[in-house]
Amino acid sequence: MYDLVFKDALIKDGFTSWEGDLAIQGEKIAAVGCGLSGKREVSVEGKWLIPGALDVHTHFSLPFAEAVSSDDFFTGTRAAAFGGVTTIIDFTAQNGEEGIRPGFQRRLALAEGKAVIDYGFHACMSRFTPEMERDLEWACGAGLTSLKVFTAYRKAGMMLNDGEIYTVLRRCRDLEMLTTFHAESGDVIERLIVEQAAGGRCDMLAHSASRPVFTETEAVRRVADLAEAAHASAYIVHLSCGNSTVRIAEARRRGVSILAETCPQYLFLDDSQFSGNNGHLFGSCPPIRPAGQEQGLWRGLEEGHIQVVATDHCPFMRAGKDTWHGDFRNLPMGLPGIETLVPLILSESQRRTGSVDFAIRALSVNPAKIFGLYPRKGCLLPGSDADIVIYDPARTWTIAADKLHMNTDFSPYEGMPLTGKPIMTISRGDVLVEEDLFKGASGRGRFLVRSKPDLQSFLSRTLPLET
Ligand code: URP
Ligand code: ZN
Ligand code: ZN
Repeated sequence: MYDLVFKDALIKDGFTSWEGDLAIQGEKIAAVGCGLSGKREVSVEGKWLIPGALDVHTHFSLPFAEAVSSDDFFTGTRAAAFGGVTTIIDFTAQNGEEGIRPGFQRRLALAEGKAVIDYGFHACMSRFTPEMERDLEWACGAGLTSLKVFTAYRKAGMMLNDGEIYTVLRRCRDLEMLTTFHAESGDVIERLIVEQAAGGRCDMLAHSASRPVFTETEAVRRVADLAEAAHASAYIVHLSCGNSTVRIAEARRRGVSILAETCPQYLFLDDSQFSGNNGHLFGSCPPIRPAGQEQGLWRGLEEGHIQVVATDHCPFMRAGKDTWHGDFRNLPMGLPGIETLVPLILSESQRRTGSVDFAIRALSVNPAKIFGLYPRKGCLLPGSDADIVIYDPARTWTIAADKLHMNTDFSPYEGMPLTGKPIMTISRGDVLVEEDLFKGASGRGRFLVRSKPDLQSFLSRTLPLET
């Protein structure tokens, strides 16, 4: 007799759907089949049973401009659980010339005792220093098997030059570590920001004008070329433009090992938001784009050129955003989104294509594979962690910030009607959320020592043959 059995679910693993039961024993999925019995049995007829989502791009308690992102590892992971996310990957932060270890210890101390769900970290390199280079091998062994670098944010001291990037790519290739990129043309953007300000323009339209679409496509193409030359893999975070998807597809067609993630803000919002009085609430880097760009992103997801949807969750209260005082150069950049990720993506995928298979792959299966967590996470196989979401596909509801659990007082998606909602979230066999009730506990989440991903096998199985 199993501990917990979900009966008569419509089970969806991102590839196929079937009706049946799923049994949990302790922290693991024990069986998937029919007629399973448990000490506790929950009938979920008419509901979907899906793998918990992995949000592999979060920024909890991140200092930015005058503010600090307003979700910590407790409030952020509790909101994640309400939204059907059962794993997050955040980032270490580098101070000065130091290596990866001190920044990792600081971030770990913030997460331990607070996180409700399991979590990992990407190592983050703002400056290419000897300490950093030395620590890369250590990071791999410690389960930080991906590295984040920036081709932008020069003024903030975070931008690597192309020579450094080429070196990092080769080093990560040798270590079988994945290099991930915030890909924007830092130098061009710095010039355009100065030009906008010189012309007396510091509003949100100037933010948009200083980061036009080509500043992403250029950086994506450059990263792809450098990765190709280095025979290394590259993963682009928060891809924001349909035009960039074309660059990714071109590179993949000639065999470059390049992967990409996009975010709900680029799939659902456009830069018309910047004209309103609250335009600054929508500020992020890269910015939300002219209407139409999102179509290429959706196509990229459906065709497999974009493999992951994550949030870049970096929330602020209105008061935090208001510290911009009318000048985008002072704006704390970033948007809340971890709790709305799964319902937004599943609702729209179902509406657009009549299927959520590719969306479940992008939310669960692919991030687990790409970031060294599969088959522990991201699937419904016996032996995997029992990270499961019960999802009501028929529930209609409207996004309203005051009904959500993220530590912020606005949602960029306020008023958006959705069909489908996570109604129960289970992490390693523990029911964390049931309807509107939180049943989890701070500090139960564990740090995940991630493996080196097998990207070649992942790519060979998921690369579309024709585009
Ligand atoms: O505006 C954003 N995206 N804020 C978070 C930091 C980053 O660049 O991902
Ligand atoms: Zn970024
Ligand atoms: Zn980010």
